[in-house]
Amino acid sequence: MNSDAIEISGNGFRYPAFVGRGLIAKAGGIARSVTDRDRCTIIADQNSARFFGDRVCQAFASQNFSPQLITISAGEKSKSLTQVEKICDEMIKAGFDRSSFVVGLGGGVIGDISGFVAAIFQRGIRHIQMPTTLLAMVDSSIGGKTGVNLEAGKNLVGVIHHPALIICDVDALETLPPQELRQGYAEIIKHAIIRDADMFHDLSSCRAPTHRYGDALVELIRRNIAIKARIVAVDDRETSGERALLNFGHTVGHGIERATDFKAPHGDCVSIGMVATCAISMKRAALSAKQRDEVLALLKKSGLPTRLPDEVDREKIIDAIAHDKKFSAGKIRFVVTPKIGEAYVSSDVTMEDIRAAIDDL
Ligand SMILES: NC(=O)c1ccc[n+]([C@@H]2O[C@H](COP(=O)([O-])OP(=O)(O)OC[C@H]3O[C@@H](n4cnc5c(N)ncnc54)[C@H](O)[C@@H]3O)[C@@H](O)[C@H]2O)c1
Ligand SMILES: [Zn+2]
Repeated sequence: MNSDAIEISGNGFRYPAFVGRGLIAKAGGIARSVTDRDRCTIIADQNSARFFGDRVCQAFASQNFSPQLITISAGEKSKSLTQVEKICDEMIKAGFDRSSFVVGLGGGVIGDISGFVAAIFQRGIRHIQMPTTLLAMVDSSIGGKTGVNLEAGKNLVGVIHHPALIICDVDALETLPPQELRQGYAEIIKHAIIRDADMFHDLSSCRAPTHRYGDALVELIRRNIAIKARIVAVDDRETSGERALLNFGHTVGHGIERATDFKAPHGDCVSIGMVATCAISMKRAALSAKQRDEVLALLKKSGLPTRLPDEVDREKIIDAIAHDKKFSAGKIRFVVTPKIGEAYVSSDVTMEDIRAAIDDL
């Protein structure tokens, strides 16, 4: 495996993540290192197709692949079974079979739906992730979770189908709107809190970028992929509790998303969720007030919200959390941090603790 690539491996899976600048032009050559198959469907949304579709198709064609671009609407609504069926129909009409593979070119929506298509098309073909949002680069492209939404909720249908390869061209982020970049920073700060105190301090002291360009951003993305890779390596199917740590801030964050009918972006909700989780961690895991304040300062510095807008109904958040699947067995499993860089799943947190933290937001 190339020494520049980060290896993601665990029980029954092993694949490289290439992270760098100018990688779109090299994508065909990189893909050749993992497959001798020729036919591929490149699934993109309107935005990623517009910015990168032609260049990615050319890069694959230059290495004797036969790429075909399928473009779907941008946005969470596209993550549906109806859309999956349409894509599969289109692939069959174009003559794709078991010897073809799928490339997902876009943000997490494209990563999730293209991975799901790859997992089920003719009982499963290979998948290459080409993430183009910061969130997809540091989070959703790693770990093999694929799927779509149902009317009843997000990500309710899916399967674990690890990609064969991840290619992150950090230059792709130059066209990403700031509010989308921020969504990725929420997950980066989460990674720092649960696993990497040094990265937290680098981000807080500006030794890591909170802007979009340059080699420092490449390093930051690599560092975050490595963090998620280490977690997924030991628990890709969320059985041992390790992968659950990635839910830090997400229990309350998901509650806020549902209370706002998913109008508030995920990272923003997780940011506010992390603030609540720090308050709970002070009570149940002895997190210091100083470190809580440091988390707040870094979130603010990254342009993320730390307070709940007044118009959001607190009761709706509590109701949503109470119905969350993690609570269905009657026991609350809540990820807390005792100090920046460490996290664990606690069963000491009560609904009253959560309510008090939300009331204070
Ligand atoms: N599989 C996992 O483990 C996992 C983890 C976290 C999140 N997710 C999923 O990821 C999704 C969110 O991903 P997201 O935040 O990337 O959203 P997204 O895919 O909707 O992308 C956000 C917006 O940015 C646009 N875009 C993408 N790349 C661009 C670029 N380079 N320049 C300009 N615009 C660009 C998209 O068209 C879209 O409008 C959710 O569906 C979530 O459930 C999955
Ligand atoms: Zn998240």
